[in-house]
Order: sequence, then C-alpha cells, then structure tokens
Amino acid sequence: MIGRLNHVAIAVRDIAKAAKVYKDTLGAEVTAQVQQPDHGVTTVFINLPNTKIELLEPLGENSPINKFLEKSPDGGIHHVCYEVPDIIAARDQLKAQGARVLGSGEPKIGAHGKPVLFLHPKDFCGTLVELEQA
Ligand code: CO
Repeated sequence: MIGRLNHVAIAVRDIAKAAKVYKDTLGAEVTAQVQQPDHGVTTVFINLPNTKIELLEPLGENSPINKFLEKSPDGGIHHVCYEVPDIIAARDQLKAQGARVLGSGEPKIGAHGKPVLFLHPKDFCGTLVELEQA
C-alpha cells in the first residue's frame, strides 16, 4: 500500500536555528518558513536528493507538537510520511484492519497542498505515521 517516503519530520523549538544547522552545517537546500495555522505548526522543508526533512516549530498554544517538545526539549523525530496512491482507500483498508486514524478521520490538506491523515503511533511501532496522497 505505502509508496515513497515523502518526508521525515523533526520537531524543534527554534526553527530558524534548526534551518541554519541544515543549511550552514549540513549544506542542504532549505526552503523559507511557512506558517500552517490549520496544523498548529510553522514548517521548513529541507530538500534532499531522495526525500525531504520537515522541520516543525509549534504555532499557537494548542499546537499538536507542544507535548512532544515538553517530553523532548531538544527536539526529535516526530513522524514519518509515506505516500499512498488513494488516501481514502488507504484509510478504509487500514481501519478495516483495526488501525486508528487520528482526529476526525477525514483527510486535511497538508503542507504540500495534498490530502493527509495521521495514524496512531501505538498501531505503527511507536511511530506517528502521516499518509499523503501522492
Ligand atoms: Co509531515
């Protein structure tokens, strides 16, 4: 069902500092910061030859990554994002197998303008999984 690894997301407290590490220390191609109020995050993407890294900084008091950063104040890997050809078909197949879809269960438009869903980490080896329609 899953296809390419679209990105690995890293939660950080200071996205400007994190983007600088990727740009200056690691020599990567880094995009500008974009605020995503629907998702409670500010994002920066690091474009690598075979995938992307998504840096996430909390945006607002109800940001879904505030709790993560309370537990991991230095930041850390927050989720992995896999591409699927049809997000509704993937969701229905996963639900039929007992997997939990977070939130309303309806796809939201993600950082790349495509529908995304999140799957419960307890059902996927302790890792929060994002599915993005390819
Ligand atoms: Co993501």
